[in-house]
Amino acid sequence: MTKKRVLSGVQPTGNLHLGNYLGAIRNWVPLQQNYDTFFCVVDLHALTADFDPKVLTKTSYELAAWFIAAGVDPKLSPIFIQSHVFAHTQLTWLLNCVTSLNWLERMIQFKEKAIKQGENVNVGLMDYPVLMAADILLYQADLVPVGEDQKQHIELTRDIAIKFNGAFSNGKNPTFKLPEPLIMKAGGRVMSLGDGTQKMSKSDPSDQSRINLLDTADQITKKIKRCRTDSIIGLKFGDPERPQCDNLLTIYQLVTEKSREAVAEECAEMSWGQFKPMLAEALVAHLAPIQKRFHEVISDQAYVDSILKDGRERAEAVANQTLHAAQSAMGLPPRV
Ligand code: TRP
Repeated sequence: MTKKRVLSGVQPTGNLHLGNYLGAIRNWVPLQQNYDTFFCVVDLHALTADFDPKVLTKTSYELAAWFIAAGVDPKLSPIFIQSHVFAHTQLTWLLNCVTSLNWLERMIQFKEKAIKQGENVNVGLMDYPVLMAADILLYQADLVPVGEDQKQHIELTRDIAIKFNGAFSNGKNPTFKLPEPLIMKAGGRVMSLGDGTQKMSKSDPSDQSRINLLDTADQITKKIKRCRTDSIIGLKFGDPERPQCDNLLTIYQLVTEKSREAVAEECAEMSWGQFKPMLAEALVAHLAPIQKRFHEVISDQAYVDSILKDGRERAEAVANQTLHAAQSAMGLPPRV
């Protein structure tokens, strides 16, 4: 039996934080055992918001290094840079021509970013979900691990694939497989340390609102010590009145790799004064080996290059085949 295919990507937009790690990259690691996994640094997506070319190169390599440090095994999973596989932009154009403008205008993330980005509402920002659809459809992915906020983009990907298959493929041999989102529940949403109702975000002006993956033990301990809580003794999951409490318990559970039940029991009677040092210590202990591995990997550019080259080749083998099928289905003359 062939394994189901999984593809996911993260944008190389600067400092990675705990939310990127617990909500995405870390969840990929166990999938490698049972799925045929591909992981991508989506640098082309990063061009849709303000960016600095000098920084983009660096953050792209760093993100690939974080994938490895977090436990993605480049032997099992091709790790590649989106812009290295030309098929992504090629397929985007073909898909653009089957995507209705009003499908894109409906995208919640586009509307939110359009407000946030003010002066910089470029065509790429609107086309972002079509590029994402190309990322996914090129690999005939069955499952796409994403956070809740990306679900609408996966639905759009399916709509694009359905429309393309209906218009250009013969019924028995569809060009694209329809992907499903794999919504990561626990850790899918790590919340801000300052407001348990807001996602932890790198664009939050307050650095105190997040744990960056490169924060030192001292910084982590200080942030946890200062982070917002309440005055209730006894900690529990899932109380809508206490979002901070739920978030901090969830972080604790994820970094200790204990079960939710075990953590609920352990913390049922605790005060914040007891819990916070425990959480800080658990976070520091969990991140230390990952930070160490990150530094090893990122200081060896030849190694990073070799991983990205191998990943690019393995990705291209799959992506080019799909691109050719799509070009041919649309009647573009075969290349001579
Ligand atoms: N839009 C995704 C995000 O912000 C990143 C992304 C781009 C992606 N292409 C993808 C995720 C393909 C999964 C599959 O999280």
